[in-house]
Amino acid sequence: MPAVVLVGPMGVGKSTVGRLLAERLGTGYRDTDDDIVAAEGRTIAEIFVDNGEDAFRAIEKGAVRTALAEHEGVLALGGGAILDPDTRALLAGHRVVYLAMDVEEAVKRTGLNAARPLLAVNPRKQWRELMEARRHLYEEVATAVVPTDGRTPEEVTQQALDAL
Ligand code: S3P
Repeated sequence: MPAVVLVGPMGVGKSTVGRLLAERLGTGYRDTDDDIVAAEGRTIAEIFVDNGEDAFRAIEKGAVRTALAEHEGVLALGGGAILDPDTRALLAGHRVVYLAMDVEEAVKRTGLNAARPLLAVNPRKQWRELMEARRHLYEEVATAVVPTDGRTPEEVTQQALDAL
C-alpha cells in the first residue's frame, strides 16, 4: 500500500510535491501517468488523439489499480483518475492528500500548455467546468486537503507532511 496517494488537478504540482514528499519520507515516487506512457510507448496526448478519452480512462484505471497494489512510497494519480467510481472505491482506506488550487491559479499555471489535451481551447472555461465537475470527487476520496495557491512546493510538502 502506498505511504501517500496524491490527487488533484493537472498542474497543481503533484509530481514536484510528490518527489519532495518521497525524499522527506525516505521512500520512492511513482506517477500513474508515467506508468501509462512507459507501458503504451506513446504520450498521453497521443492516446487521447488516437483512441479517445474513454480508452485512456480504461488504461488509467488499470494503471491505478496496479500501482496501488505494488507501490509502497508516494503515488501521484493523473488529475482525472478520480472520475472512475471503482478507482474512488479502491482509494478507501488509503492516505490520500488532495492538492487543491482555485481556477485562476490553474489558468495561470497551465494556461498555454498544449501538451494537456483537456485544455486545448479556452482554458479558463474548461478549467471552471473541470473544477466544478471534479472538486467534490477529490474531496470525497481525500483524507487531507492541502491548498496550494500562492505556496511554494516546499511549503506544500510541509503542509502535506503535517496533515499525514
Ligand atoms: C488528466 C490529467 C493528466 C493526464 C491526462 C488527463 C485529467 O494528468 O492524466 O492528461 O483528466 O485531469 P496530470 O494531472 O498528472 O497532469
